[in-house]
Amino acid sequence: MPIRRIRVFPDPILRKKCRVVRRVDDKVTDLANDMIETLDAAGGVGLAANQVGALQRVVILHLPGDEDSIVLINPEIRDTEGEREVIEGCLSFPGFEGMVKRSVTVKARWLDENGSKMKITTEDLFAQALEHEIDHLNGILYIDHLLEHEKLATAGSYVDPEEPHMHDVEVELHADHSDDDDAEPEESDIEVVHTTIKFSDLYSEDSVDKMHYDLRKTGYVIDPPKPTDQTHDHVESDDPHLDGGVILDPDHSH
Ligand code: NI
Repeated sequence: MPIRRIRVFPDPILRKKCRVVRRVDDKVTDLANDMIETLDAAGGVGLAANQVGALQRVVILHLPGDEDSIVLINPEIRDTEGEREVIEGCLSFPGFEGMVKRSVTVKARWLDENGSKMKITTEDLFAQALEHEIDHLNGILYIDHLLEHEKLATAGSYVDPEEPHMHDVEVELHADHSDDDDAEPEESDIEVVHTTIKFSDLYSEDSVDKMHYDLRKTGYVIDPPKPTDQTHDHVESDDPHLDGGVILDPDHSH
């Protein structure tokens, strides 16, 4: 069961329509098994056969938290309901993602690896993956669904304009150089420095430390912020960009 090479955009096979599988035979199950291995090696959620160079209507899904992958032969969407906007990526566009519209509920049917008829009504990632992978079988890619005002973004960098997000902040530092801590400082003891804190350069908690280092380098030693002390400024998010007690500019808009 070899791992197959995943075709990357703009490989023309990604634009080809896959053929209906007439008989679930050994060739089809071999292909499905290769695809299961390929998908797991890539760490993805779904894979369509044309992504590994086979023009057959075969899809593998491996939903996070599920132990096993699902083999879907000749999958078809029977009905959809609702609309939602989701951030999506694809193994054929490594390192990119974008905002697309997907259905809330998807009804689908397919044959499993034994040729048995399966059907489901589902939501969330399962529904999204069904739409994404069945599109692949028809030569349709998620970039075709990118919302007009959106474009592909580097994976992990997407910001929802409705959500708090990070950008560089202009700050004015007042450095008190007077010796006496208790006395009111003379105006001549105050140094005013304008600088930019590059939150947009932060990619992980490590780089929060790097930012402190950068500020120290420019002569402004600050104590590392304690996120718990800054509850009003701290952003709880799964997005690593938004971790670490970041100060957000409430007036900022894109
Ligand atoms: Ni894809």
